Amino acid sequence: VSVISAILPGAAVALDTFGELEEASLLPEEAAALGSAAEPRRREFMAGRSLARGALADLGFRGVAVLRGADREPLWPDGVVGSITHCKGYCAAVAARASCVAAVGIDAEIDDDLPNGVLRIVARDEERDWIDARRGDGMHWDRLLFSAKESIFKAWFPIARRWLGFADATVSFDADRGRFSARLVAQRLVVNGCETDRVEGRYLLHRGYVFTSVAVEAAAPQP
Ligand SMILES: CC(C)(COP(=O)(O)OP(=O)(O)OC[C@H]1O[C@@H](n2cnc3c(N)ncnc32)[C@H](O)[C@@H]1OP(=O)(O)O)[C@@H](O)C(=O)NCCC(=O)NCCS
Repeated sequence: VSVISAILPGAAVALDTFGELEEASLLPEEAAALGSAAEPRRREFMAGRSLARGALADLGFRGVAVLRGADREPLWPDGVVGSITHCKGYCAAVAARASCVAAVGIDAEIDDDLPNGVLRIVARDEERDWIDARRGDGMHWDRLLFSAKESIFKAWFPIARRWLGFADATVSFDADRGRFSARLVAQRLVVNGCETDRVEGRYLLHRGYVFTSVAVEAAAPQP
C-alpha cells in the first residue's frame, strides 16, 4: 500500500516509491513525449510513468501510454483522472475512474523550510499571517502551503484548462484533522455540473516528506 493512498479516496489507485524504482521503463510513445532530457529528469519521468501505468493497470487499463499535453499535464485515458508527483527520493502516481473521482492532484515535497523569498510568492497576506503566528511549532507550514497549492493546481488544470496562480487560492489548514480547505479567490471550478469556489485537501507528514492531495469525489448518480 502506498503512503500517499492514506490521503486519497478509496476509489483511487495510488502507487509510490521511496528511492530509485528498479523496474522503471518508458513506452516508446512516452520516451518520444519527453524528448531529450538530462538523466535525472529522464529518471523521474520514467518513474512517474511506470507508476502511472501500474495504477492504470489496476484500474483495468493495461499497456496504455501516459503522454503529455501542451501544458505538460499527464494525459490519461478517457474516463480516468490522475496525477503524478516526484521529488528527491520519492515518486507517486494516482489514477481513478472519473465516475468516482472528478478531479485529483497530489504533491510530495521534502519536509523543510521553503528557500528564502519563496513564501512571499506563494502565500497571500492572510496565509502568511497564519504561518507567522505559528513559527516555532515544529511544522514547516510554508512548505505545506506550497505543496497544497501544487496539488490544487494539478487537480484544477485538467478541468479548467487554464492557469491558476498562487494568489488565486487561499488555503486554511485544519491541523487537528490533517486537512485543508481552499477558497478560489477570483475563479470558479465546475465539477459535477456545479460551480464551486471551494476545494478540499488532505496532508500527511511521513519519513521527512510532506504529502498533500486534493480530490473531488464525483457526484452520486441521481435516482
Ligand atoms: C506544474 C506544477 C504544479 C508541478 O509541480 P512541482 O512541485 O513543480 O513538481 P512535481 O514533481 O510535484 O509535479 C510534476 C508533475 O506535475 C504534472 N503536471 C505538470 N503540468 C501539469 C498541469 N498543467 N496540470 C496537471 N499536472 C501537471 C506532471 O505529471 C509532472 O510530472 P511529469 O512531467 O514527470 O509528468 C508546478 O511546476 C507549477 O507550474 N506550479 C505553478 C502553478 C501553481 O502551483 N499554482 C497554484 C494554484 S493555487
